[in-house]
Amino acid sequence: MTSFTFNRFKLDFYSRTKIDPVKNTSFYDSALVTLRAAKEFTRRYMNNPHTDGLLLTGQVGSGKTFLACCIANALLAQGKILLFIAVPDLLDQIKATYDAKNENSVTESELLDTAREVPLLILDDLGAHNYTNWTRNKIFSIINHRLNYLLPTLITTNINLEDLEQFLGDRTTSRIFQMCRPYRLLVDVDIRMQMISQGR
Ligand SMILES: Nc1ncnc2c1ncn2[C@@H]1O[C@H](COP(=O)(O)OP(=O)(O)OP(=O)(O)O)[C@@H](O)[C@H]1O
Ligand SMILES: [Mg+2]
Repeated sequence: MTSFTFNRFKLDFYSRTKIDPVKNTSFYDSALVTLRAAKEFTRRYMNNPHTDGLLLTGQVGSGKTFLACCIANALLAQGKILLFIAVPDLLDQIKATYDAKNENSVTESELLDTAREVPLLILDDLGAHNYTNWTRNKIFSIINHRLNYLLPTLITTNINLEDLEQFLGDRTTSRIFQMCRPYRLLVDVDIRMQMISQGR
């Protein structure tokens, strides 16, 4: 993931002819706007650690994680401290702390405190798991703390904006909309597949 840098983020995977029905712009233009927003976030964050975060949406293989990694790598290169974690992994790690045999490992509150308090949190893949009340409460507690302390969060998700509330509940969704500027990456074919068919 260290090789995911802005200069490797290619725009030619995004169609110039297919149109985003919501914004009435081409997939290419949406990707360009999103790439600019990601670069701009990196600059904004360097100047102000309490700036707005980003919510990157888009279907499977549209470059969301890649772009989040580009931001992370640019900021890590500038010495910034951040946590990049896939949400399903975070939830699994929290669950693992309940296992009595794991006496010496970190506690749930240590894990949650890290996610709540780290200067920049990148939550990758919010949505690729089943939501229970337990899951929703953990995510709420992280998001709510970060909003209260004006700590930016970057989120990538496959879930459409209009469906987010159904998965996360209204309280978490409302906070995410307040904290994060939404951007969409659209592709007509999964970039993983495009790379295979183009031999890239
Ligand atoms: N804009 C891009 N330029 C170059 N390579 C890309 C780009 N977007 C994606 N890729 C390649 O495609 C792969 C899949 O992209 P990525 O993991 O970012 O998709 P995703 O939108 O996060 O998908 P998922 O919803 O499955 O998590 C990346 O590992 C990378 O190799
Ligand atoms: Mg991803």
